[in-house]
Amino acid sequence: MHSTVSLKVHYYGTPVVLISSTNPDGTTNVAPMSSAWWLNDCAMLGLGGSSRTTKNLLRTGVCVLNLASADLVDHVDRLALLTAEPVLSDNKRRTGYRYEPRKFEVSGLTRQKSDLVTPERVAECPIQLECEVVDSHDFGTAQAIQVRVLRSHVEDSLIIPGTAYVDPRSWDPLIMKFCDFFGESRPLAPSRLAAGWSMPGRMRNYFDDPIEIPSTT
Ligand SMILES: Cc1cc2nc3c(=O)[nH]c(=O)nc-3n(C[C@H](O)[C@H](O)[C@H](O)COP(=O)(O)O)c2cc1C
Repeated sequence: MHSTVSLKVHYYGTPVVLISSTNPDGTTNVAPMSSAWWLNDCAMLGLGGSSRTTKNLLRTGVCVLNLASADLVDHVDRLALLTAEPVLSDNKRRTGYRYEPRKFEVSGLTRQKSDLVTPERVAECPIQLECEVVDSHDFGTAQAIQVRVLRSHVEDSLIIPGTAYVDPRSWDPLIMKFCDFFGESRPLAPSRLAAGWSMPGRMRNYFDDPIEIPSTT
């Protein structure tokens, strides 16, 4: 049986990307996002119009997509509800965002110089993609920004030896599902974004429930 529901959120599970971009003062901003899909060497990014990142991408035409692994969940969560945009939109103020230009320091992440673009990479992320903006499409309060990967940096332990492929068994992406964080499809930690959005699934408090992991052997 199915029920008809006016779903408020369609976040079914996508990898968390820490996107770095260059602020007007030349410093690097880093922000979590997960509305991204990939085709060949391009990605389409869904970014809210009020975020500093969106303005930086449209102004500079470059960014770095740093893919977060599940073990970075605490660093990522420290970036939630922060913006490097000094003027907060009404929606962001209501959700509990605050202005914070020192995102690397607050999150405990480490800067790493990029080869081809000005924004710095996030050293802790095992996959870092230096990108250029190819196109952008306005869809109301958000932008769909198409980027092309110019250079990929991959931690050696993730590469299938002798190939240019990532070993999917070694790559454990941090997944954002209905505003909460998962790794290997298991809940990892409560998320501040889910709290800001008052996501109802949190009321079950599934973080306290022991979860059986089926044996793979
Ligand atoms: C896990 C996670 C995923 C997010 N995904 C997106 C997203 O896909 N698109 C978006 O516009 N904002 C997303 N956000 C919210 C942005 O991080 C937020 O808009 C933030 O203000 C961006 O920082 P900035 O204003 O300094 O650019 C996400 C936040 C979290 C914590």
